[in-house]
Amino acid sequence: MARPQLLIGLMTGTSLDGIDAVLVDLSGAQPALLAAQGTALPAALRHELLTLQASSPDEIDLAWRAGNGLADCYADAVTALLRQAGIDAGDILAIGNHGQTIRHRPERGYTIQLGNHAQLAERSGIPVVGDFRSRDVAAGGQGAPLVPAFHHAIFADAHRHRVIVNIGGIANLTDLPCDGSVSGYDTGPGNVLMDLWIGRHLGERYDAGGAWAASGTVIDDLLAQLLTEPYLAQPAPKSTGRDLFHADWLNAQLASRNDNPADVMATLTAYTARTIADAIQRTAAGADDVFICGGGAHNPTLLSMLGALLPGITIASTAELGVDPDWVEAIAFAWLAQRCLSGQSGNVPAVTGAAGPRVLGAIWPA
Ligand SMILES: Nc1ncnc2c1ncn2[C@@H]1O[C@H](COP(=O)(O)OP(=O)(O)O)[C@@H](O)[C@H]1O
Ligand SMILES: [Mg+2]
Repeated sequence: MARPQLLIGLMTGTSLDGIDAVLVDLSGAQPALLAAQGTALPAALRHELLTLQASSPDEIDLAWRAGNGLADCYADAVTALLRQAGIDAGDILAIGNHGQTIRHRPERGYTIQLGNHAQLAERSGIPVVGDFRSRDVAAGGQGAPLVPAFHHAIFADAHRHRVIVNIGGIANLTDLPCDGSVSGYDTGPGNVLMDLWIGRHLGERYDAGGAWAASGTVIDDLLAQLLTEPYLAQPAPKSTGRDLFHADWLNAQLASRNDNPADVMATLTAYTARTIADAIQRTAAGADDVFICGGGAHNPTLLSMLGALLPGITIASTAELGVDPDWVEAIAFAWLAQRCLSGQSGNVPAVTGAAGPRVLGAIWPA
């Protein structure tokens, strides 16, 4: 049996719903999940991170302090994981730490993920690999999405044309045709607009089980209007984030309208489903199966809308492929850290548009 390759993956995504932390053994062909846990971000830190999504006075100080706060939360998550698995810090090769995106502007040559990696290495005693996206951007790429390389490594199949759709704050797809090639891009909003809307109207973080959306009726002319967003028609490579799909975007779409809030919720859910389905039909025609991961996998209203738009294609969660949909992305960053340590490239140039394969991430030794 191969020696274990123990790594930790930490993901704090666009949704700002919390930290996904996994401890995995990556010595085999498929990742073995040894421990996993999700931790909510402290309310004050979450508020700071939301504030940092747009420019504000003294934002550099605020950003670096929030990065320190994140590092503390990451370190606590690591401690809890090690305890859960009964494993010592010294046995972990590295922590792959995505960080929290506060700007994603590849067109201006940068993307910023906060999180004080030095502090995390200091507190955990484990080497940290972070800043995965910058090198791809430096090579002319989008720096995103980065998960397709991992999806390809563990989900590609020679007999079934699979599409993996990660529905986080933003949604991204990975197309895995049977010929072994891989492509992918951000399709547009995942949960981010839905979360904004229910937060505003019901004060909740998300529409649990898609229940509120299911109580409303899709407003056809609003949906048609939302679908005119130019990002959707852009060819790949492309990536997006809260830089585009933010509260002001939504407010502008709804200005001078007075729709029933539940109907707007249904429409925003349909918008996510429709943009994903359109993307699959446009760039992954002939797919046999679509596997969903990310928090959107828990929204049956969204999934049934998606199913209705993709007749003849099976829609399932990545659990069917042996990987819990909640942990795919965090495992991907553990895998990317392993790639960095072994000097292997982590990007797919055809996905990100980078000039070539690049080793992603920087290493903060223990
Ligand atoms: N039970 C649920 N019902 C509906 N939506 C859910 C549920 N659980 C999670 N979600 C959605 O998933 C989001 C988190 O997804 P996640 O994959 O963590 O995104 P990110 O990578 O952007 O953090 C939540 O903000 C919420 O919108
Ligand atoms: Mg999340």
